[in-house]
Amino acid sequence: MIKTVDLKKHFLIGRHQILHAVDGISLDIAENEILGLVGESGSGKSTFGKTLIGLHERTSGEAYYRGQPLPAKFTAADHSRYSTDLQMIFQDPYASLNPRMTVLDIIGEGLALKGIPRADIQQRVGFWLERVGLHPDHMSRYPHEFSGGQRQRIGIARAMIIEPKFVVCDEPISALDVSVQAQVVNLLQDLKQSLGLTLLFIAHDLSMVRYISDRMAVMYLGSLVESGPSDAVFFEPKHPYTQLLIASNPEADPAIERTKPTQHVIGEITSPVNLGPGCRFADRCPKVLAECHDVTPEAILIATDHQVACHLYAG
Ligand SMILES: Nc1ncnc2c1ncn2[C@@H]1O[C@H](COP(=O)(O)OP(=O)(O)OP(=O)(O)O)[C@@H](O)[C@H]1O
Ligand SMILES: [Mg+2]
Repeated sequence: MIKTVDLKKHFLIGRHQILHAVDGISLDIAENEILGLVGESGSGKSTFGKTLIGLHERTSGEAYYRGQPLPAKFTAADHSRYSTDLQMIFQDPYASLNPRMTVLDIIGEGLALKGIPRADIQQRVGFWLERVGLHPDHMSRYPHEFSGGQRQRIGIARAMIIEPKFVVCDEPISALDVSVQAQVVNLLQDLKQSLGLTLLFIAHDLSMVRYISDRMAVMYLGSLVESGPSDAVFFEPKHPYTQLLIASNPEADPAIERTKPTQHVIGEITSPVNLGPGCRFADRCPKVLAECHDVTPEAILIATDHQVACHLYAG
């Protein structure tokens, strides 16, 4: 359904500085699949999602939707053509909702652009407010009258009312209380079934990603270090970065959590500015080899559908 080939998004910062936010991602997402995308803050997850659906101009590489090449830079016509199929639930529910628009206008905007009569829009917005656990009376209110979690639901309703085919869900649950996270995850899974949706689910919580996703992909500094079936990546992580990420993921059960050996990722994520060749994780990797510093590792298939980009598995 979705395919990217060596997709890159670089930002020019200052006169000579290039920030390699997304640095060559090749990924496939199958019809009706949930692909979980994980990786620490700054690894380029949001930028990848936005570039894929045309919210950022692509620097290079290719992206396809159902076999059709997506343009590197979306025109207004491309946006209206693809917005009925490709949608995004934004990470920041505060910044992404226009404060001067009512909930009705925010959620109904996509339908209004399609020329649907106002009475129908009102009725469908009411239906979707209920579906995401809000009240139809909320439609005349403004975003500032809602909590972070409620705004997140407004964002979900806005994306879903279009009945899209593919949705980038950028941390759709991280602004929510633990008690409502499960409700929203169940809602997304429900929508996946009933609308036949395909989702790119971006999140920090690895256990949640494993629970909701069919496959999981791990990003580090703009590149993909590992991808595969969720259980394989979660229970048999191959890349040293994935291994550390999973080891540092807190267990839901504190009794198990206490028995885990403490392992920490060494140091902080490196800056993605003016990067050269080599593995992006080399400086922090406990298993680093000499070649890791200058040779960029290629993705290697190590089991059915399980890929890892690491020199430890080469040859
Ligand atoms: N519009 C922009 N201009 C310049 N740099 C940007 C822009 N957007 C993102 N970046 C940079 O690109 C890199 C990747 O950012 P991105 O927001 O995609 O990461 P992320 O994985 O989504 O992080 P988080 O988990 O915190 O949401 C970061 O170094 C960020 O500072
Ligand atoms: Mg992000």
